[in-house]
Amino acid sequence: MNILILGSGGREHTFAWKLSQSPLCKSLFVAPGNSGTSQIAINLDLKVTDFQAIKKAVLKNEITMVVVGPEDPLVQGVHDFFLNDNAIKHVSVIGPQKAAAELEGSKEFAKEFMYRHNIPTAAYKSFNASNVEAGYAFLETLNPPYVLKADGLAAGKGVLILNDLNEAKTELKSMLIDAKFGEASTKVVIEEFLDGIELSCFVLTDGKNYKILPTAKDYKRIGEGDTGLNTGGMGAVSPVPFATNDFLNKIEERIVKPTIEGLKKDNLPYKGFVFIGLIKVGNDPKVIEYNVRMGDPETEVVLPRLKTDLVEIFQAIANQTLDKVEIVIDERTATTVMLVSGGYPEAYEKGKEITGLEYITDSIPFHAGAINKDGKVVTSGGRVMAITSYGDTYEEAIKKSYQNIEKLHFDKMNYRKDIGFDL
Ligand code: AMP
Ligand code: GLY
Repeated sequence: MNILILGSGGREHTFAWKLSQSPLCKSLFVAPGNSGTSQIAINLDLKVTDFQAIKKAVLKNEITMVVVGPEDPLVQGVHDFFLNDNAIKHVSVIGPQKAAAELEGSKEFAKEFMYRHNIPTAAYKSFNASNVEAGYAFLETLNPPYVLKADGLAAGKGVLILNDLNEAKTELKSMLIDAKFGEASTKVVIEEFLDGIELSCFVLTDGKNYKILPTAKDYKRIGEGDTGLNTGGMGAVSPVPFATNDFLNKIEERIVKPTIEGLKKDNLPYKGFVFIGLIKVGNDPKVIEYNVRMGDPETEVVLPRLKTDLVEIFQAIANQTLDKVEIVIDERTATTVMLVSGGYPEAYEKGKEITGLEYITDSIPFHAGAINKDGKVVTSGGRVMAITSYGDTYEEAIKKSYQNIEKLHFDKMNYRKDIGFDL
């Protein structure tokens, strides 16, 4: 079959890498893609939220499966767009419908869902411009640090964690009254701070059945020792060594099962990946957030460990026969280190030539913000490339990534040298 992947990051290059290995995949397209996807698929120059352009490309190229990488098209209803159009409703879309994508599109919706289905999460209240005074009063009842979350999508920047009460009040006002995050902060969720170590759990569902994929841990901060500004993710490790079988059982019983049951009870149509951001508080998992897609760079360590044919899995999701598929996982650890443009996550320059890729032997370079230009591979974004390696231990895998990074170069290249430091 002909398959289209929507997106242009390291996640989408990894999807392309995995799908292209399947004998069931005839022609593979990525829109808009990057320099990495151009080596194994055909890049289509279109925007992931331009549904009419996507429809045209799907018909022209006889595409029968669309795999949605990022959240924006899902929250805007790309799956519903396909279902509501007779010319393309036969196409399998991997990603939830709009109503279910609200789990990522609205923090308040997600919190209400978790409360309704008894899924462990931080206590919270939500506020808007009409009751900002009540928000101040709620903050006064909490102990620092204070967690403020813009309700809507804010490109990963909508969460503020503040130590000072007055600063928290000022920020609440700035979000609600001065629209600090635009539309996204029309509502703000204030929640209890959870102290613990984070990890993510990835679940595949066809709306009836589910399968759990390997866990991963992402390193979000720009600086070593988890310091400095938040980024999209600077590296990842899978599996997470502290996620013991006992802890994984708790995640499945207390979180995964009620989540999948909750989707069914609430009539939220879901065929795709559920990304559950967790925090381990003492020995118990609590949910920080849901995302309705795979993580980036978590995909770069989770998919390389998946031995089962991914096209087969996606077909089973489309046909609601996921219970018939056996998910086989590589026992080895996979790690990835993200190379970023100097200055990222603040202002940075683009168009820098990336050299040395031909010398990489025992790692996989997944391209992210990198494109082809005049016969060269040049930077085009903040996160440029994720270098993934396998090892019998995470130490061994990470060492390989760092050895291969030594062979790569672009002007002002930056990366964290301590991925895995806290394991
Ligand atoms: P989110 O966008 O909801 O994943 O939040 C971004 C980051 O903020 C998370 O990865 C956590 O590091 C942190 N965070 C969010 N909510 C909480 C919380 N209730 N307690 C502690 N840290 C949190
Ligand atoms: N790495 C975090 C995310 O994809 O949201």
